[in-house]
Amino acid sequence: MNKAHELLTSFKARFGTGASVYRAPGRVNLIGEHTDYNEGFVLPAAIGFSCWVGIAPRGDRKLIVYSENFGEAQETTWDALGSRGSGHWSDYPLGVAWALQEAGYRLRGADIYIAGDVPLGAGLSSSAAIEVSTGYALLSAAGDAMDRTKLALLCQRAENEYVGARVGIMDQFVSCHGRAGHALLIDCGSLEYRAIRLPAKLSLVICNTMVKHKLQAGDYNVRRAECEEAVRKLSAAMPTIRSLRDVNLEQLAQNRSLLSETLYRRCRHIISENERVRRVAELFEQGKTEGLREVMAASHQSMRGDYEISCRELDTMVEIAERQRGVYGARMTGGGFGGCTINFVDVEHAAEFQRRVSAEYESAIGLHPDIYLCEASQGAELVETTADNLPKVTR
Ligand code: GLA
Repeated sequence: MNKAHELLTSFKARFGTGASVYRAPGRVNLIGEHTDYNEGFVLPAAIGFSCWVGIAPRGDRKLIVYSENFGEAQETTWDALGSRGSGHWSDYPLGVAWALQEAGYRLRGADIYIAGDVPLGAGLSSSAAIEVSTGYALLSAAGDAMDRTKLALLCQRAENEYVGARVGIMDQFVSCHGRAGHALLIDCGSLEYRAIRLPAKLSLVICNTMVKHKLQAGDYNVRRAECEEAVRKLSAAMPTIRSLRDVNLEQLAQNRSLLSETLYRRCRHIISENERVRRVAELFEQGKTEGLREVMAASHQSMRGDYEISCRELDTMVEIAERQRGVYGARMTGGGFGGCTINFVDVEHAAEFQRRVSAEYESAIGLHPDIYLCEASQGAELVETTADNLPKVTR
C-alpha cells in the first residue's frame, strides 16, 4: 500500500471520514548556505522525503491536528490560535493556520492527519515540509487559491513569528516549487528562480552525521543578527546598500575597518558563497563537473572558518567523503551545527561510497550514520482524494 492510501486508511480510522492527501517535500541545499536571508542566491533541490497531510473540512471552527510521528492529537479553534507557539510540534501546522488567518483568510475548521518521513533535526527541512503541506491542505480544503510563492512566504512567516526561528525563504520556496530532476537557482532578493537540470551522472548522496541541529537553539538567529549588524556598519560608507547582496569582496576589503574581525569573516562567507552558487549553477547549466569539487570544498571551508557553523562530525564526514572514488564534491548542508552533508557522487560509485563512508565515519566518530541516495523531486502536490475538495493552488 502506498503512503497516501495508508494515510487515508488511518484518517478514516481516526476521524471516520474520507479525506484529501497532500504532500510537500523536504530539501537538500546543494550550495548557498545562509545566503537566503541576506537576499542572495541558493541552489536547493526538493528530495524524496516528504510530509503528508490528510485533511477533511469540518462544520465548526475546530482544528484537530493529529501527528502520526508523535502519536498525539492537538485540538484548538480558529479563534484560539494565539500569536506564539509553545515549543510543541503542533506549532508548525498551527503557525501556518495563524499566518493564513493573519493574511485575511477565513477558513473552515478541519480534521488534519500528519505523517512524515523527513528525518527530524537533520537539516533536511522537515519544518518546511510540514508547513507547506499543511498550508496547501488548509487552503485546498476551503476551496481557496494561492500562488506557490505566496504560500512559501506565508509558511516562512509562520516559522519566523509563530515558531520563533528567523529562517530565510529557501526551504519553503523549494518545497513549493521543486522540480523532479532539477535544482532551483533562487534569487532570494527578487524571488525569481530558474530550474536547473542536474547532470545525469551525478547522484545526490546525503550523509547524516546523526548529530541533531536545532535552529531554535539560537545560533542561527545570532548569525542572522550579525549579518544585519554588518549591513548597518557598512552603510556608513555605502549608504545605498540594503543587504550583503549589495556588497562585493573588494568593497568589503575596502571597508574592513568598519567591522569587527568576526563580522568581517561572516560577511566574507556570505559574499563569497553567493559567487560559488552562481559558479555551480553555471557548471550544471553547461552539463560540466570540472572544478565542482574545489567550489564545494571552498564552501565547506568558508562555513567552517568564517561562518563557524560546522562541527567536528560534519568536518569528519566531509573529509571521509573527499577521499572516496567517484566524488565530485562534498560539503555540509543546511543551517549547520550538526545535520547532514551533501555529496555529488558518480552514480556508478554511489553504492560503494555509501558502504565505505558509513564504515569509516562509524569508526572515526562512534556513531552509525544514515546515508541516503536521493533524487531531486517535485514540490507540493495533491496526492490522493476520497473527498470532493479540489486543489486550487496554482503553479
Ligand atoms: C535553514 C533555514 C534556511 C537557510 C539555511 C541555511 O535551513 O531554514 O532559510 O537559511 O538554514 O542556508
